[in-house]
Order: sequence, then C-alpha cells, then structure tokens
Amino acid sequence: MTTPLLRLTGIGKSFLGTNALQDISLEVDAGKVLCLLGDNGAGKSTLIKILSGFHKPTTGTIEVGGEKAVFDSPRDASTRGIATVHQFGGTFPLMGVGRCFFVGSEPTKGFGPFKLFDKKLAGEIAVREMQSLGITRVTDGNRLVGSLSGGERQALAIARAVYFGANVLILDEPTAALGVKEAAHVLRIVMQARAKGVAVILVTHNVRHAMMVGDHFAVLIRGQKADDFRKGERTREEITDLMAGGEAMAHLEAELAQLQADA
Ligand SMILES: Nc1ncnc2c1ncn2[C@@H]1O[C@H](COP(=O)(O)OP(=O)(O)OP(=O)(O)O)[C@@H](O)[C@H]1O
Ligand SMILES: [Mg+2]
Repeated sequence: MTTPLLRLTGIGKSFLGTNALQDISLEVDAGKVLCLLGDNGAGKSTLIKILSGFHKPTTGTIEVGGEKAVFDSPRDASTRGIATVHQFGGTFPLMGVGRCFFVGSEPTKGFGPFKLFDKKLAGEIAVREMQSLGITRVTDGNRLVGSLSGGERQALAIARAVYFGANVLILDEPTAALGVKEAAHVLRIVMQARAKGVAVILVTHNVRHAMMVGDHFAVLIRGQKADDFRKGERTREEITDLMAGGEAMAHLEAELAQLQADA
C-alpha cells in the first residue's frame, strides 16, 4: 500500500453548542477522485474549510504525504499543495482573466522575476492554460472574469490551481449552478486534473455527477460519516436513499403519486 496523499483521522469540529463534524476519517490518493456527498447541513463545507485552513479542527489529525500537518491559515494549506475552488469559481468578476489567474500566487513557485506584474504574459499564460483544458472560446487575457460563463470560471479556477502545482484540488459544488453541457465540461476537466495525478475532492449533491467521475465516495449525515465505498459498490438508488437519511426514495415517490391520484 502506498501512503495516501491526504489522510484525515478522527476529525471533529464543534461550534458553540453544535457538533458540525464528528470522527471523520478519510483518505485521498493521488490521481483519484473522492466524492463527498451529503444533504444540506451535513458538514461538507465545514470539512472542506478544515482542509483548506479556514477552520481548525476541534479533534483529529490531518496528514499530507504521510506527515502530520497543522494549518493555521489558508496559506498554510495552499503551501502544502491543497487548492480549494469555491462555488462559482471564487474568482473576481471585475478582474481580467490574466490578472485573476496570478492573483495571490506571485511569491510562490519561482515567480520571482514577476516583480512588475506582466499583464500581457499573464494573459497569455492564463489563456493557454484554459485552452489546454478545452476552453477554446476564451482567447483574450484581458477579458473580464465577470463576462465568462459559470463553467468557464470554474475552468479558470481549476487551471490556476493545477498550474500552481496543487496536488490536492477541492471543489465545493462546482456543477451546482451550471447547465447540463457546462457541468459535463467541468467534470471533464476534473478527469483531466485526475489524469495529471492530482487528488480531487468533489463536494456535490448530484449523485449522477459523482458517479460519473468518482473513484471513491463518502456520505456525510449530520456531521458523521454514514458510509464510505468504492466505485461500483453501490447503486445510484442506494446512494440517493442514504443521502436522504436512509429514507427509501422509491417509497416516497410512490406515496406522492398516491396523493396525486387521490386529489
Ligand atoms: N461558523 C459556524 N458557526 C456555527 N455553526 C456552523 C458554522 N458553520 C457551519 N455550522 C453548522 O454546521 C453544520 C454543517 O454545516 P455545513 O455548512 O458544513 O454543511 P454542508 O454539508 O456544507 O451543507 P450545504 O449542502 O447546505 O452546503 C450546520 O448545522 C451549520 O449550521
Ligand atoms: Mg456547503
């Protein structure tokens, strides 16, 4: 067995009075996609915030590449190669594509020569990296991020993370606000990141999307890990029922159909 890129052991988080997470243990391997599923309030974003250095866990440990890691800030997590793309790409609508691509990353990974921000070069690199992910309609590095589609913004954020050497890429509901085609495109990009050896954590409500790209899956219910399984070990119905808190959706559908028939 190889060491997982990321290992969580017994992670818990309480906020004043509420237990948002309890005893979460998970492993994420390089070149694999872990899908984190769960209903509203299950604790998905809290777990992501712990991994990205926004929150400190109340209990438990995080290991990166077999070494214990403590994140005091989001910068600590990104230094360890963990990049988080928030919903809507977390980008800046009034910034140009090139500027947005480089914002906040100037001091890392040998970008020393960029003393003065080289707008033209930044734009060229951003466009080239997006093109390499199949986003061919963005050709101008000065284009405002606000004018990109939701899928293009996600692609920009993912391209940026991969370019700056992220080895763990966390995506919080990347397809939630997208149409069918755009969502498919983002999922394709997830697979490209996976092929480059990146470990991807995909948070989603969409079981179908999860099943298309996931290698392994974890379902959170009220802050606890209710199930953890590999591709092919559960049917879509089983996963959906589990996310609904063990309530069989087929049963619910039949009940609703009956109500409709009675009305
Ligand atoms: N800063 C906070 N202070 C207090 N409680 C919080 C805080 N952040 C989250 N919680 C609580 O922790 C629980 C888990 O929230 P979280 O945002 O992680 O859920 P989620 O799975 O991401 O839900 P959704 O699918 O709706 O995004 C919720 O009950 C929430 O109210
Ligand atoms: Mg959330």
